[in-house]
Amino acid sequence: MGEDALILSGKREVVGNLMAAQLGDVGVDFFSFGEYFEARPLITLAERGRVEVREHAWVNGATRRILGLGGVEFEECLALHGDVLVYSLVKLSDEPVMLRFRGSLQVFSWSNPNFRKIMAELANVSFRALRGLGLEASYRNTYKIYLASTHPMNISVRTAEATYGIDVELGEGKIHGFTFVAIGAIAGEEEEALEKIREIMRDPLSVRGRKYAQVKGMLERVRKLGEVKPEYALLWKYMWYVILSNRAHIRRHPVLKRPFTMPSKFAFRHQWLWDSAFHAIVLSMLDIHAAEEELLNIFEAQKPDGRIPHEIFLSKEFCKLFWKVDDYSPWTTQPPVIAIAVDYIVKRGTSRDFVRRAFEALDSYDRWFRERRDADGDQLMAYVDYLESGWDDSVRWDEPIAMFERNPEHYKRLYGDIRMAPVEAVDLNCYIYIQRRVLAKLAEELGLEDRAKEYVRLAKETGAKVREYMWDAETGFFYDITEEGHEQTKVKTPAAFVALYAGLASKEQAERLVEHLLNPKEFWTTFPLPSVSADDPKYDPRGYWRGRSWLNMVWFAYWGLKRYGFEREARMLAEKALSIMSESLSCNENYNSLTGEPLGAPDYGWSTLMLDIIKDLSEG
Ligand code: GLC
Repeated sequence: MGEDALILSGKREVVGNLMAAQLGDVGVDFFSFGEYFEARPLITLAERGRVEVREHAWVNGATRRILGLGGVEFEECLALHGDVLVYSLVKLSDEPVMLRFRGSLQVFSWSNPNFRKIMAELANVSFRALRGLGLEASYRNTYKIYLASTHPMNISVRTAEATYGIDVELGEGKIHGFTFVAIGAIAGEEEEALEKIREIMRDPLSVRGRKYAQVKGMLERVRKLGEVKPEYALLWKYMWYVILSNRAHIRRHPVLKRPFTMPSKFAFRHQWLWDSAFHAIVLSMLDIHAAEEELLNIFEAQKPDGRIPHEIFLSKEFCKLFWKVDDYSPWTTQPPVIAIAVDYIVKRGTSRDFVRRAFEALDSYDRWFRERRDADGDQLMAYVDYLESGWDDSVRWDEPIAMFERNPEHYKRLYGDIRMAPVEAVDLNCYIYIQRRVLAKLAEELGLEDRAKEYVRLAKETGAKVREYMWDAETGFFYDITEEGHEQTKVKTPAAFVALYAGLASKEQAERLVEHLLNPKEFWTTFPLPSVSADDPKYDPRGYWRGRSWLNMVWFAYWGLKRYGFEREARMLAEKALSIMSESLSCNENYNSLTGEPLGAPDYGWSTLMLDIIKDLSEG
């Protein structure tokens, strides 16, 4: 297959536009269709018996296995292109065989199965058995999904779920097979979907062919970026596959009008603010237009008061249940790293229109921070919610949450919507400092001299305060502070290294930070930069933001180290993370910091920031 093929061994995951699926022992264990429907399992052998996997290759986004099932051999294939999924099983032995499959389709509920019934009601969900074909499911009378099979489906329908059994009798001789298809569609295009099913039943391999061609096209584009170090060549291709195939386009969505990148189609299936900024940084290496699009949805979702929302759900119903807000977005924002992405897009060549659009969006966003996240008016902004911080479960928020719970009324008077005592976080204020520098640059480019001066002044003020209040000379580290009283919360996390990225540390401070970074008892763990220092009593190498390592922090630290001339240390940091990712051939959401085990969502968007680093290592 040569250079235009991506071949991975043992990988089970495949993705399309709104669809994602994962092979199980025999069949498809996991399936999702946006935030509308999901299945666990979609289709699986009822009595698994002894299954022997004789071969397993994942080629250009489709996966194929040779299975031995009680002495009978099969070829199993799972392919997904656009919103069309095909699962097929072809018998390679002569003996006849009877197989019994079962499967299900449920209303999406993410982690809370109790939501299913409520979602079904809110979104007017219906399931319908279609004679001679299979199953039709509909969400808000807009998003439809069809399931069909070469063998009759015995369907039973409930409010929030449909289940089915399929008896598959394969006759004597080879070539007998079973095909199962799932097709996503939009209201008004039902006939086309049914016609597509008929076509695919005649030629199931056509979907795999289309997927191959799509991935081949992606890799051809990537090749134009040049050569990378041979040890990273496969990971490089794989991460490009991840970032490019995580893109999705949802027709008839009132907010998400343009394509955007889902953080992972297996776990995070809508648009998040800081994820998209990281995605845009990566995309800008290859395709400025895609990088711009990633941010334009977000600009359009900006609220009249200037807030850029935390996330934009596919399903308004789900947002309502999860956040109790009747909208596509909750009341929070997320770490303001979007200006960093804008800066990359501008440097890599964008239009004046985009510069103007970005300036307007960031200008009112910065004002919103001043008005709504700075109760003490000191130009140090505060997080008032743990999910807003992007570091959901972090040890950093344990005490602020406890403080809030002791006296919620006091904090509600300060902020209205609030779920922890306000924290002037070190990373947040480094981002704000950068945002203001970027705003000054954009203003200058647009000929807005006064605005440029204003942002230079605001940046300076925030920068000076970070240095004044957040540095602790005794331990040689930057810490978050409480908004009230400016008390340092002495939790050491890689958020401090963002001060290097922002250029806010002095040379001496940088040297002391590097000592912490390289200390195996703190941040220099098997997979580097645990989300809390390994010498913290609450450190848990598998803990979600409580000890696992995330790649966005590695990326900030890498460029931060380089900024201060720590070239060798930057390279060592990158190589430490990349060697594990190359070995496990993974691009996961996070990693066990003690063992390097890939954890969290597979095929995760912002972990592809390592592409930017591989490129730098290859050029340097
Ligand atoms: C998790 C992370 C958050 C991220 C989101 C989507 O909630 O904690 O930072 O934005 O997933 O990837």
